[in-house]
Amino acid sequence: MRHRALLVCRRVARRAPDAFANLAVYVTNSARGSFARCELTKPKILSTRPLFPAARVILDQHFEMDYWTPHERISRDELLKRVADKEGLICLLNEKVDEELLAAAPKLRIAQTVSVGFDNIDVAACTRRKVVATNTPGVLDDTTADFAWTLLMAIARRLLEGDTWMRSGTWPGWDLDQLVGGDVWGKTLGVLGFGRIGRGVARRASGFNMRVLYSDAVRAPEDVERELHAEFVDRDRLFRESDFISLHVPLLPDTRHLISHENLEKMKRTAYLVNTSRGPVVDEAALAEALENRKIAGAALDVYEHEPLVNPALLSRRDVILTPHIASASLETRTKMAVMAANNLVALFEGRRPPNALNADALGLK
Ligand code: DGY
Repeated sequence: MRHRALLVCRRVARRAPDAFANLAVYVTNSARGSFARCELTKPKILSTRPLFPAARVILDQHFEMDYWTPHERISRDELLKRVADKEGLICLLNEKVDEELLAAAPKLRIAQTVSVGFDNIDVAACTRRKVVATNTPGVLDDTTADFAWTLLMAIARRLLEGDTWMRSGTWPGWDLDQLVGGDVWGKTLGVLGFGRIGRGVARRASGFNMRVLYSDAVRAPEDVERELHAEFVDRDRLFRESDFISLHVPLLPDTRHLISHENLEKMKRTAYLVNTSRGPVVDEAALAEALENRKIAGAALDVYEHEPLVNPALLSRRDVILTPHIASASLETRTKMAVMAANNLVALFEGRRPPNALNADALGLK
């Protein structure tokens, strides 16, 4: 029995030598007799959030977990301290994985952000230090697309102004010109960034009989354009012709302040802007100025240039809707994201390529 257990342990260790490099294998006699067991010291992982139970079940089974549980965010100092002896880190989009953190975590083998956007991770620095960087793509596309539409409808039809009025107890009753907004059906939707989420937003537009324009660094395949009735145009045309512009670009040097004074000037005075991508894609000061000067009709923002802060000039505007970065926040989707994160870690430590490795090729992961 002991012999067989030893063989099993050795076979597992042989199949995934890398993953087991740090694991001690023991075969011991139990107090009750000659039954053998294989004990492995588990890799130590830090999670900056307690995550969801479905993810914890997986993580607790495979790893020695250190969850940050206080309600307040983990401070940078605490993060650097706690990650020092860890082989894995699960973090959120507001925690930076940069040279400083990597230097503070010499044992780190994987840095996982529970988000599809990974602008918080210096992937090149991870690659230099042989740390696998992973994110959670795919599972949040439809939930995020739904929310972009929630914002689009809400800003066009002045939903929050109506709600605020009703709660104030001052609504005098129906009138012909109260809170008149802009129609959605039959209008032109401009999708900036035509990845999975942008396409999801475009797909929903067909129910409103909209014309869809899109712009992206790469043109979508013909069958996708046909299915979504989407026309590939340059950014300039998209700015000029759209009644609604929905942003779905990643944050890159090229997309920072894409919504600038200059581009806001190109938009229709009746147009609305929706941002569920990354805050710094919009120059908030320029947006506030454009709204003040009635260059565009309104904006609905879920993300901010300097989160969690919002440009004060936007706060008091009735033509702006502000939500706290919740586009992917359905229980189902956030749970899937956390489980996906857990599975990436399990894969790596079992000697497999994590399904969502951002630098798999650069690290030569098979
Ligand atoms: C992401 O995943 O990048 C979103 O911003 C949060 O879901």
